[in-house]
Amino acid sequence: MWWYVAPTIINTFLESYDFSGKTIIPFATSGGSGMGKTNAKLKPSCPGATLLQGRLLNGNLSEESLKKWVKDLNL
Ligand SMILES: Cc1cc2nc3c(=O)[nH]c(=O)nc-3n(C[C@H](O)[C@H](O)[C@H](O)COP(=O)(O)O)c2cc1C
Repeated sequence: MWWYVAPTIINTFLESYDFSGKTIIPFATSGGSGMGKTNAKLKPSCPGATLLQGRLLNGNLSEESLKKWVKDLNL
């Protein structure tokens, strides 16, 4: 997270490929804030993609909790 959004390099990455029809799930590290306006700012960079609510992956996450997160996404 950089100032409550993903750094613009992530927008550049998304704009470099065609993500239409794809599902995007952002994940990030941060100093303490949440994901802020990340999705609103990323959306114009990936037209036609489904942008799901992302998650912070700060600290020591167990393999189990990561697996649960992915499972609960119901993809
Ligand atoms: C310019 C800048 C802005 C940042 N803004 C935030 C912020 O708004 N909220 C937050 O929790 N952390 C913020 N941080 C801390 C980073 O999110 C944190 O260090 C993160 O782990 C950086 O990962 P990266 O270096 O892989 O991008 C900021 C760091 C920088 C350098």
